[in-house]
Amino acid sequence: MEMRDRLLFRQQAYVGGEWCDADSRETLDVLNPFDGNVIGTVPKMGQAETARAIRCADVALVAWKAKTGKERGAILRKWHDLIEANSDDLALLLTLEQGKPLAEAKGELTYALSFVEWFAEEAKRVYGDVLPNTRSDQRLLAIKQPVGVCGAIIAWNFPSALVTRKVSPALAAGCTVVLKPAELTPFAALALAHLAAQAGIPPGVFNVVTGDPVQIGKELSANPVVRKLTFTGSTETGRLLMQQCASNIKKLSLELGGNAPFIVFEDADLDAAIEGLLASKFRNAGQTCVCANRVYVHAAVVDEFADKLVARIRQMKLGNGLDSAVSLGPLIDRRAVAKVSRLVEDARAKGAQVLAGGKLQKEGTLLYEATLLLGITSDMQIAREEIFGPVVGITTFSTEQEALAMANDSPSGLAAYFFSADLERSWRLMEGLEYGIVGINTGMVSNEVGPFGGIKESGVGREGSKYGIEEFLEIKYVCLSGKSLNTSPY
Ligand code: SIN
Repeated sequence: MEMRDRLLFRQQAYVGGEWCDADSRETLDVLNPFDGNVIGTVPKMGQAETARAIRCADVALVAWKAKTGKERGAILRKWHDLIEANSDDLALLLTLEQGKPLAEAKGELTYALSFVEWFAEEAKRVYGDVLPNTRSDQRLLAIKQPVGVCGAIIAWNFPSALVTRKVSPALAAGCTVVLKPAELTPFAALALAHLAAQAGIPPGVFNVVTGDPVQIGKELSANPVVRKLTFTGSTETGRLLMQQCASNIKKLSLELGGNAPFIVFEDADLDAAIEGLLASKFRNAGQTCVCANRVYVHAAVVDEFADKLVARIRQMKLGNGLDSAVSLGPLIDRRAVAKVSRLVEDARAKGAQVLAGGKLQKEGTLLYEATLLLGITSDMQIAREEIFGPVVGITTFSTEQEALAMANDSPSGLAAYFFSADLERSWRLMEGLEYGIVGINTGMVSNEVGPFGGIKESGVGREGSKYGIEEFLEIKYVCLSGKSLNTSPY
């Protein structure tokens, strides 16, 4: 399979409107997770190049924030249209660097586009407020202004959608951005930067630096010119960035790890629950932060549920994402395989039954089989850790209270799901779940309209939705005082 436009395959970073290499000329290899072949290289940049990109973003900020929201929205719309026109190429690039099946890669592009479209529209809908006076010689206002230069660091699981979910609201609000894609999947972001330039996004407004995550992360968090850092990735790294940002009290948005409970009650439509679980669990080979991670099924229906689920899991085809029959791609790297294998082996050793899968398809690859484990108990590591792989582990429960207590027994609080036909129970559960996102009778909750984000150790802030742009705006309170305001003849 060939790309139609080879110019979308950029192997340099994009800073201040120029394509550039690392100062050292060093590069990083980017591998195809399916076969381990090198797809290409990107510059191994560090602190100095990041500081330069920040300066470019700072210079570009003056003119960009002076544009009206409507003008910025029109440019974002052009970016949207170019991404749409090139989405076949972009999807191919995604499958090559990330491994997800091509149909899913196209789905990610649609998802990515939805954020650009949404925030192109939101750009002209940033409102302030006229506030009630507390004195008759004063007038009070709250106006909204762009935060300024923003740093953005994204994960490897959604290399396109995470770019647009962060960059579109930032640019719509009038901010400029220095973005670091994941070292494992940098090409999607670089292709999007190429299209941004074609769309007329001015030099310096959107910069992409590739390379050393520690060095780049340090500069983006410690440099005082950067007024906001937005990050998607692990809770561990989020905690570190938060500490680094404390030195200059930087505004932060963090989309961190989840450990989503997925509860199936005895009154649920079991077929719908199975479809919901498959969608939630096996999207991106289980490598999403909103994936069902702990599955709780009522004792009265667990056998039927497990039988039906095994049958559906056996229909899944694992392999090269470019093969149209494949529904499950490889894991991202050896570390991911080692973690999934450890969790499955620990559960097996402590008594879990393996009803499907449970191993690599072939040693030496990153192809982990779709796996179903029954009899998960709280002493198993899989009951506490985020799996980030195609493994369902079922725990049985008997009462609603028990299910809710187990679901909430986690430091994470991103997404939670449950299936039930009982309206009152649904309302009670929805209120009782300590999570930022709740899916009721569905396993798919992500779109541009809903506020995406978690509570507890899953992060701070919300992305997408009407709230997403607020993360890139500051409120300025204005108090206008004057004697004649009091004595106005009009
Ligand atoms: C993520 O896993 O970081 C994003 C998943 C989503 O947007 O649905």
